[in-house]
Amino acid sequence: MKILITGAAGFIGAALAKKLLERGDEVVGVDNLNDYYDVKLKQARLARLRETGKSAFSFSQINIADKDAILALADTCKDAELVVNFAAQAGVRYSIVNPFAYAESNVMGFIVMLELARRLPRLRQFVYASSSSVYGGNAKIPFSIEDPVEKPISVYAATKRSDELLAYSYAHLHKIPCTGLRFFTVYGPWGRPDMAAYLFTSKILAGTPLPVYNYGKMRRDFTYIDDAIAGTIGAMERPVSASDQGVQSEIFNIGNSRTEMLTDYIGEIEKALGQKAVLELLPMQPGDVPETYADIKASQEAFGYAPKTTISEGIPRFVDWYKKYHSVQG
Ligand SMILES: NC(=O)c1ccc[n+]([C@@H]2O[C@H](COP(=O)([O-])OP(=O)(O)OC[C@H]3O[C@@H](n4cnc5c(N)ncnc54)[C@H](O)[C@@H]3O)[C@@H](O)[C@H]2O)c1
Repeated sequence: MKILITGAAGFIGAALAKKLLERGDEVVGVDNLNDYYDVKLKQARLARLRETGKSAFSFSQINIADKDAILALADTCKDAELVVNFAAQAGVRYSIVNPFAYAESNVMGFIVMLELARRLPRLRQFVYASSSSVYGGNAKIPFSIEDPVEKPISVYAATKRSDELLAYSYAHLHKIPCTGLRFFTVYGPWGRPDMAAYLFTSKILAGTPLPVYNYGKMRRDFTYIDDAIAGTIGAMERPVSASDQGVQSEIFNIGNSRTEMLTDYIGEIEKALGQKAVLELLPMQPGDVPETYADIKASQEAFGYAPKTTISEGIPRFVDWYKKYHSVQG
């Protein structure tokens, strides 16, 4: 099966592409390789995909907001059966600094990808990454897909919610079956340098203080990458159910369905490194939420989603990868 994945050089996109190549799918990867974080890491992920997929993997460096370049893929990808749109400007905090990057990739880029999807005759569904951040400051936990999500508290969250609404409108207007995945803090090998596991590991090793917001009173539902990928593949493979109005647009939570204290997460990193962290306790950051916790009942029922990796299993695997990767890169 031919699958187009955007954000293929990114953390989750590359992990998905690798899994699909291993099972024999053909993957067309798209990514603009922007420098939001170290481009060498993105290149290294792509090198692994080339090695795994050989001729079954092809890659184009394209900005998904570039409509001419993306719509030109309608020809080369005319036999694609799935589009997985994971390219996005990620990160809550950076969306306060540079909101334009979010408008470009997460709104304009998202519409361009839906327009491409309309032009693919064999397309079965359009899968895209949303985020737990759409739940904003909701006090009711765990967060369920039935909960109200009208109050995003960051530009990032607002763009991800926009994606869910745009997907619905394309499913309605153009009959494109769409599945949105609300990921909850995904971590693991080949992870993102701007996220807690990577950031904290590098700071502990360097002996520099870790910025810990809300004075450490933060809870997160941490999802191990393999569980996130199993959930994504489960969602990709099932037919999208139609609503009462006949619209095929669904949304699911992809979390671990456990909420952990951030300080316990740091404790696991300390244990794996055999080194103590120095914490710099700071007030809450604007746009951030104190707690995330996924209700995964709908994902379990729809595609048997069953995350199984605890942080005490996942963090040592991340730390092992981190050490190897950095010794190789020098
Ligand atoms: N990692 C998480 O915990 C998490 C949580 C919630 C949602 N998500 C979402 O999941 C998706 C994947 O996240 P990730 O953690 O792999 O992030 P990532 O930053 O590692 O991957 C995104 C990739 O998209 C590429 N990209 C960005 N803008 C682009 C554009 N305009 N055109 C082409 N490529 C572009 C980047 O170069 C990057 O390689 C994103 O949509 C993100 O918002 C991730």
